[in-house]
Amino acid sequence: MGRTTIGIVMNGVTGRMGLRQHLLRSVLAIRQDGGLPLRDGSVLWPEPLLVGRSEAKLRDIAEKNGLTEWTTDLPAALARPDMQIYFDAQVTSARVKALQMAIEAGKHIYTEKPVAETLEQAVELAKVADAAGIKHGVVQDKLFLPGLRKLARLVQSGFFGKILSVRGEFGYWVFEGDWQAAQRPSWNYRAADGGGIVLDMFPHWHYVLEQVFGPVRAVTARAVTHIDKRWDEEGTAYEATADDAAYGLFELDGGIVAQINSSWAVRVNRDELVEFQVDGTHGSAVAGLHHCRIQPRAATPKPVWDPDVPTTQRFRDQWQTVPDNDVFPNGFRAQWEQFLRYVAEDAPYAGDLWAGARGVQIAELGLQSSREGRRIEIPELDR
Ligand SMILES: NC(=O)c1ccc[n+]([C@@H]2O[C@H](COP(=O)([O-])OP(=O)(O)OC[C@H]3O[C@@H](n4cnc5c(N)ncnc54)[C@H](O)[C@@H]3O)[C@@H](O)[C@H]2O)c1
Repeated sequence: MGRTTIGIVMNGVTGRMGLRQHLLRSVLAIRQDGGLPLRDGSVLWPEPLLVGRSEAKLRDIAEKNGLTEWTTDLPAALARPDMQIYFDAQVTSARVKALQMAIEAGKHIYTEKPVAETLEQAVELAKVADAAGIKHGVVQDKLFLPGLRKLARLVQSGFFGKILSVRGEFGYWVFEGDWQAAQRPSWNYRAADGGGIVLDMFPHWHYVLEQVFGPVRAVTARAVTHIDKRWDEEGTAYEATADDAAYGLFELDGGIVAQINSSWAVRVNRDELVEFQVDGTHGSAVAGLHHCRIQPRAATPKPVWDPDVPTTQRFRDQWQTVPDNDVFPNGFRAQWEQFLRYVAEDAPYAGDLWAGARGVQIAELGLQSSREGRRIEIPELDR
């Protein structure tokens, strides 16, 4: 069987996500393994065309990775008939304009989240993409994490009985940038540049909650800026205007209450950078990036509250590890493979621009909830 080449315009590959996760660990990793095998026995060969603002950086990435195609001219890249897909991992504020251009050029689009800074823009993009008849996908990498895959498996198996609640803890300390360099880009901390932890993380929490547990019907959130002064990549002090922590409550179908803390101003006292505890009538689980532990109903200990006596029970030891029972590839790569198969052979695919728009919606309503100090119900999107 033959090999078909599929051209992908990759914009934002000089950034953290674009380079490491999407170019190196996904598209180039697929090539290193000989391409993507399709149902009919043929192989799909992704051919990236790197796009960005700095020719020097693009050339450097291309040369280091044996690639020959790069340009700073996005319209020219989109005009090429051998490029079928446009991928975007630019800063959030640059995304909508580029996606619109790609849709107009008739390309299928695959994009990082959030798809836009406002719900209005996100819905407009989804409508225009549907009208153009192109295929579209939005990154939902957390669903492919081994820990969350095991958690989803537990839900599907009925392990929990009736699911009561979900408690998520996400975050770590992001250095201010003065005496130690920050480990995230400075635009994340400036509202005017598309920053903020709500816009960054609520879209993730939305697809995790929606796809693992069910539709999200209401949000109550408190978004704050704990650290209001930071230092950028050049060591210059700036005012941090975007929220760097968000304390969110999400109400789901079936009465499930999910409470998720997201913070770049917290020190880690957990096993992993994100952890979700799910409690159900028949059992509980704690899932992180990689691992998942359970405690079934029949093995639940019976602690008694007695503040005068130090507890002798080691609660963490009372949980059982869920085995992998599977091989979990890099989540970004796994989703790239799904999207490429969707484009090449119409394989099933979830997570389109409408799902992306629901992610932006919950971020927007979460910020509104915080501003107005109230619970907000989430309306269906108007298609
Ligand atoms: N899926 C995930 O887990 C995940 C994680 C982090 C970030 N993201 C998303 O990926 C996108 C990129 O984030 P990142 O952390 O890689 O950012 P980054 O700052 O490291 O990279 C940003 C990229 O956008 C380009 N760019 C285009 N226009 C720009 C402008 N006007 N100013 C600055 N840079 C510009 C930069 O050259 C660079 O290639 C964001 O939308 C972010 O929300 C997703």
